Amino acid sequence: MKPVLYLVRALPGQDLEPLRPWLEVRGGAAAPPPHGRLVEEAQGATILAPTYLDRVDGALLDALPTVRHVASYGVGTNHLDLAACRERGVLVTNTPGVLTDATADHALALLLAAARRVAEGDRLVRAGAWREVTPGFMLGVEVTGKTLGIVGFGRIGQAVARRALGFGMKVLYTSPRDAGFPGASRVALDALLAGSDFVSLHCPLTPETGNLLGRERIARMRPGAILVNTARGAVVDDEALAEALASGRLAAAGLDVFREEPRVPPADLTLPNVVLTPHLGSGTRETRAAMTRLVLEDALRFARGEPPAHPVG
Ligand code: DGY
Repeated sequence: MKPVLYLVRALPGQDLEPLRPWLEVRGGAAAPPPHGRLVEEAQGATILAPTYLDRVDGALLDALPTVRHVASYGVGTNHLDLAACRERGVLVTNTPGVLTDATADHALALLLAAARRVAEGDRLVRAGAWREVTPGFMLGVEVTGKTLGIVGFGRIGQAVARRALGFGMKVLYTSPRDAGFPGASRVALDALLAGSDFVSLHCPLTPETGNLLGRERIARMRPGAILVNTARGAVVDDEALAEALASGRLAAAGLDVFREEPRVPPADLTLPNVVLTPHLGSGTRETRAAMTRLVLEDALRFARGEPPAHPVG
């Protein structure tokens, strides 16, 4: 009997044929089944493939005691209880690297859209409300020559830095160690917040980074600064952020991620100076297909008894 791979939901661009000699594939519906049905359908599976949207915890693993490998779609692991996986001897893999450029592009897209009021302007024109043609109308913020503070300087943070340097920005970053990145300076978080015109978040969500940008830290940001978040919603205190945006203390924000997706804090929906996208950081056809490929390749490796290419931890 072949081991079973259970896909919690369909993965874009999935080609399951190469897997068939080695694995029986189950699941993969467009939307994930409710918990009870998932447990039924995945009973007996050896490999479970959730996405970054699907929580895997000790209770789920206990309900699926045959699972030996969690092959997660996405680079973030905050949806996985890694300790529970470790305790049960369950291998965890993810899909790093392939989404670096797409996510960095999206951070820059939000940064530019927020600075130059792209979404606000689009709404105005579509509403037929464009009347004024004076030179002082709807002015945004210049990007060239400004300082970008990058919180978290892994692959994606560094890809954002390369792009920002191309836009003539100065780059500060926080990181546990000096990345030796030409043209970018490592500083403490508070110095970054005080010294940046733009702040872009690229740290993983961990117990240490939950609400990292709380009320006090938001208050330390430069007046008129712009925040971009393509990391995780829970890294920011959304109430404090909405207040800072409503009062004009922060000029704008570009937000791709939210604490309880797909729910967006109501205040963000009404503030004109917030550009919103629905977790599209890695959302290009090419990247999402490459993520699928990494999930399936590691599942195949596991089925063949080979070491995984992208183990977590
Ligand atoms: C991830 O891979 O964790 C991203 O959030 C998906 O866009």
